[in-house]
Amino acid sequence: MEKTPKNIFLIGMMGSWKSSVGRLLAIELEMELIDTDDAIEEMTEMKISEIFSELWEAKFRDMESAFFIEKSIQTGYVFSTGGGIVLSKENRNALQNNGTSILLKANPKILANRLKNTQKRPLLSNSKELETRLTLIWNERQTLYESSAHVTVDTDDLESVDVVQKILEQRDRF
Ligand code: S3P
Repeated sequence: MEKTPKNIFLIGMMGSWKSSVGRLLAIELEMELIDTDDAIEEMTEMKISEIFSELWEAKFRDMESAFFIEKSIQTGYVFSTGGGIVLSKENRNALQNNGTSILLKANPKILANRLKNTQKRPLLSNSKELETRLTLIWNERQTLYESSAHVTVDTDDLESVDVVQKILEQRDRF
């Protein structure tokens, strides 16, 4: 009998392509995809930006964590997580123990370039200096990302499809 695959968690900063890589990876591995931001938007019938402005960030983090922890107990999913998933200790435990966590890394200059036209990231709104803001967030979270990751993929010069290939090349590790 075929073994149910372990979960794969894509973690990393906003703009690290977790969502697009997750979609492609789930197709390649014939696994089901869970995008935590999309799931929360569906459940609440609100955009993430509305949740931040109307219910505040702390409420978003509670919903994100409750949803993530419940789902991550199951197996066989590719998760595209929100960039702040590593902020909670319970989430980090789930990332460590309930599957393989893959950190998609990119330097803040490249992230800023990828995100320059985005309207949907509340943590970046009003940020003229996108690269500086992303550097600050990266500096705050770097240790959390790195200590949660089983595998790290550098995405700086890559397109999403290349990132998927790089992940698949390391398939024996997870
Ligand atoms: C956030 C990242 C976003 C979203 C929310 C907060 C963060 O997801 O969850 O805006 O704290 O880094 P993406 O990483 O998919 O942009």
